[in-house]
Amino acid sequence: MKACAPGRVNLLGEHTDYTGGLVLPLAIDRATEVEAQRRDDGVIELLSASEAAPVRVAARRPGPGTVRWANYVLGVVAEFWDRADLRGGFTLRISGDVPVGAGLSSSASLMVACARALNELYGCGVAPMDLAQACLRAERTFAGVQCGLMDQAAAALSIPGCALFLDCRTLEHRPIRLPETAVIVLHSGVRHDLAASGYNKRVAECAGALARLPGRACLGECVPEDLAKLEGMERRRVEHVVRENARVREGAAALEQGDLAAFGRLMVASHASLRDLYEVSCPELDALVEAVRPWAWGAKMTGAGFGGAVVALAPADRMRPVAAAAQTFVCRPFLA
Ligand code: GLA
Repeated sequence: MKACAPGRVNLLGEHTDYTGGLVLPLAIDRATEVEAQRRDDGVIELLSASEAAPVRVAARRPGPGTVRWANYVLGVVAEFWDRADLRGGFTLRISGDVPVGAGLSSSASLMVACARALNELYGCGVAPMDLAQACLRAERTFAGVQCGLMDQAAAALSIPGCALFLDCRTLEHRPIRLPETAVIVLHSGVRHDLAASGYNKRVAECAGALARLPGRACLGECVPEDLAKLEGMERRRVEHVVRENARVREGAAALEQGDLAAFGRLMVASHASLRDLYEVSCPELDALVEAVRPWAWGAKMTGAGFGGAVVALAPADRMRPVAAAAQTFVCRPFLA
C-alpha cells in the first residue's frame, strides 16, 4: 500500500506552537510518499530514494540510532509498537520532493507519511490528530527537537486548497480556504538544522519567561498587560508571541474575507517581529522579504528560521520576476 503527506509553508503564527499559541500553516504540493509492505523475516527495512544506503534493523521496539534520517522513521515505528504487532517486520520505500533544510517541514512530512503507511498496513485506525501527536512525540524523542505541533498537524490534517487554523493549546482547528493567489517560496540558500540551531534555546527562553508569569499555564494565554512584568530578552520573546497570536486571529479573518492585502501586511509585520523581537531571522531572509515586497501581498520567513525559506503571497500575474530569481520555486496548495 502507498501513503503520502505534504510539506507546508507557514503563513502566520511563527514560534507560537510550542507556547500553546495559534498557527496558520498551508500544506503545499510537495510531499513524501511511502510504499509499505509487510515481511515475515523479522526485519524492518527502510529505503530512501535520496539516501544511498538502506537501513535494516531487527523488528523490536526501536530506540534512536545513529542514522539521522532513519531516526525520524524509527521514532514513528516506536509510536506504533504498542498499537500493532510489528514483529514480522516490514519494508518502507520512501521518496518525495520536499526539500530538506528549507523550513518546509520535510521531517514532519516524512513522519506523517510513514505513520499513515503503518496505520493503513496494520489497520490501526489512529485518527489524524492522534497521528500528528504521535509524530510530534517521535520528533521530540528521536530527533531531539523540542518542537510544537504545527508541522505534524499541517501534514496530517490539511485539506486541499485550505490553510489550517490551529489552536495548539485547545487543539481546535478549522480549514480556511485560501483566496486565489500565488504562493512563492524563496530559499535563502542558508540551510538550517533545527537540532543544531537556536531552536531549543528559544523553547527554553519561553519556558523561563513563563515561570515569571504566575497564573499563566502557557504563553499562549498571555495578554499585552503581562509584558509589563518582564524585561529584556524575555519581554521581547513574549511580546512576539502575544502579538503574533493576535496577527493569526486577524489574518484568519482577513483570509476569510478574501482580503489578501491586509493578510500580506500581517505577514510583513510577523517577519519584522521574528527579526527584531524573536531574533530568529538572518540577513539573507531579511533581504528576500524586502526584495519581493514590491510584487507581493506580503512575505515572511517560514518555519524555524536561522536560514531556510521565505514565503510570499502574490497575485499570479505579478510573480514572474520573483520566480525568475535563483533557488525559487512556486508551489500550490496541495491537491488530494
Ligand atoms: C519548526 C517547528 C515547528 C514550529 C516552527 C516555528 O518548523 O518544527 O513546531 O515551532 O519551527 O514556527
